[in-house]
Amino acid sequence: MGSVPSLLLYFFLSLLFPFTTSITIPLRPTNQNPPPQDPYQRLNHLVSTSLTRAHHLRNPRPTTTTTTPLFSRSYGGYSISLSFGTPPQSHLSFVMDTGSDFVWFPCTNHYLCKSCPFSPTSSKIQSFLPKLSSSSKIIGCKNPKCSWVHHEQVNCQECNNNASKNCTQICPPYLILYGSGTTGGIAISETLHLHDLTVQNFLAGCSVVSSHQPSGIAGFGRGPASLPSQLNLTKFSYCLISHKFDDVAGKSSSMILHSDHSGSDKKTAGLQYTPFVNVKPEDDDGDNHPFSVYYYLSLRRISVGGNRVKIPYKYLSPGSDGNGGTIIDSGTTFTFMAREVFEALSNEFIAQVKGYKRAVQVEALTGLRPCFNVSSSTSSPGGGDGALSFPELRLHFKGGAEVALPVENYFAFVDDGVACLTVVTDGPAGPEREAASGPGIILGNFQMQNFYVEYDLRNERLGFKKQKC
Ligand SMILES: *[C@@H]1O[C@H](CO)[C@@H](O)[C@H](O)[C@H]1NC(C)=O
Ligand SMILES: *[C@@H]1O[C@H](CO)[C@@H](O)[C@H](O)[C@H]1NC(C)=O
Ligand SMILES: *[C@@H]1O[C@H](CO)[C@@H](O)[C@H](O)[C@H]1NC(C)=O
Ligand SMILES: *[C@@H]1O[C@H](CO)[C@@H](O)[C@H](O)[C@H]1NC(C)=O
Repeated sequence: MGSVPSLLLYFFLSLLFPFTTSITIPLRPTNQNPPPQDPYQRLNHLVSTSLTRAHHLRNPRPTTTTTTPLFSRSYGGYSISLSFGTPPQSHLSFVMDTGSDFVWFPCTNHYLCKSCPFSPTSSKIQSFLPKLSSSSKIIGCKNPKCSWVHHEQVNCQECNNNASKNCTQICPPYLILYGSGTTGGIAISETLHLHDLTVQNFLAGCSVVSSHQPSGIAGFGRGPASLPSQLNLTKFSYCLISHKFDDVAGKSSSMILHSDHSGSDKKTAGLQYTPFVNVKPEDDDGDNHPFSVYYYLSLRRISVGGNRVKIPYKYLSPGSDGNGGTIIDSGTTFTFMAREVFEALSNEFIAQVKGYKRAVQVEALTGLRPCFNVSSSTSSPGGGDGALSFPELRLHFKGGAEVALPVENYFAFVDDGVACLTVVTDGPAGPEREAASGPGIILGNFQMQNFYVEYDLRNERLGFKKQKC
């Protein structure tokens, strides 16, 4: 990206089509919380972070202040960098998260991060310093943006001090709960710098305390506070490089932000599309419905080796309240499926995989299943080294779009010749059997590796194609 010819091209395109702009920014696998070296532990770690996140996305607990869906900050996500302030302060790294709708960064010299992977002094965490910026403003309580942060109308107390001084109420501090951590701070308005684009009065969170959240999060979800909404983007797209490159410094792919207000509904060549599904924007109390920030899709069918997996319809397509249905979430690593869906899928694999033995001990160690010992195979029809034969996993979406996932997007290797299905589900049927709540399927980033994915916000649809990123 950023090569001279392409910049020139953009320049001329912008002269020809003055309403169209597009910005390309690098996207990197997050690499700040090194995963355990042992491959079993590493997978187990990814399983538990995917599950904690799934649990939280499905049960966003209301709190006194505000709740947005979790990002379990660790190995397994992708990040972008943004810069804020006047003059601009150095770039900060943000997790790119389509499952939440608020942008916040570590803020002030006193930023306190508990249980963060770096040193206990958190000296390695880069913070934004509002006092060095002439454009930092604290959001007032009556500012409509205050309710964006809190997802509800904020009750602003009148100042009871009637002294002559001009009394202004600030937007109450936010506290965001994540499945595996929290962040808290105050809402500010700042100037955002994104390449050559400068956006004034961008609503962002100045977090002063967090746990398990060493870097900021850039919410790309559907709420008014999200980065795409505040920038009036008409679409954004990304290509996720393979997780294999997580530890390769400097390796990145790109994220493209488009702003095309010419009213075009043109499809991008080569992409298949499926519409987003809208769920109720408000709950019964008139507050923003917690699920309305997600990108819901309508999945019609899942097939394994050409066999349709028997899945109750409620899990495939959401009700208007957001229960059931499928969402796509860049912040989840392994795809989550509600128990009934998962059992049907994994049974299909168990029934169809003939050439390899189950590796039950590895299932216990990683938390993934089924796992197969592919080194013991004697009859690999694929033949040759590394050629694995697993039944094809295919997703069929509303509108006719369908995708056969590359095998490395749904089976992961554990070092000694064992491969496991990289889909997770709730713990064994038991205590936590709440009524079907929240999305039934959360498509994670592991399944999106080496796909070009476009969120066409204007035309409310998701486009994708296979692509080496
Ligand atoms: C503040 O002043 C207003 C009128 O200016 C008055 O109605 C109100 O009672 C006063 N509030 C307090 C707490 O003194
Ligand atoms: C409060 O500040 C505004 C703008 O700064 C000014 O117009 C207004 O008169 C002030 N009110 C009082 C009671 O001082
Ligand atoms: C987005 O649109 C709103 C309303 O039209 C406008 O106030 C705002 O300045 C725009 N923001 C950007 C970054 O263009
Ligand atoms: C896989 O199979 C091979 C050959 O049968 C065996 O040596 C190895 O121990 C098995 N690995 C696991 C993890 O079961």
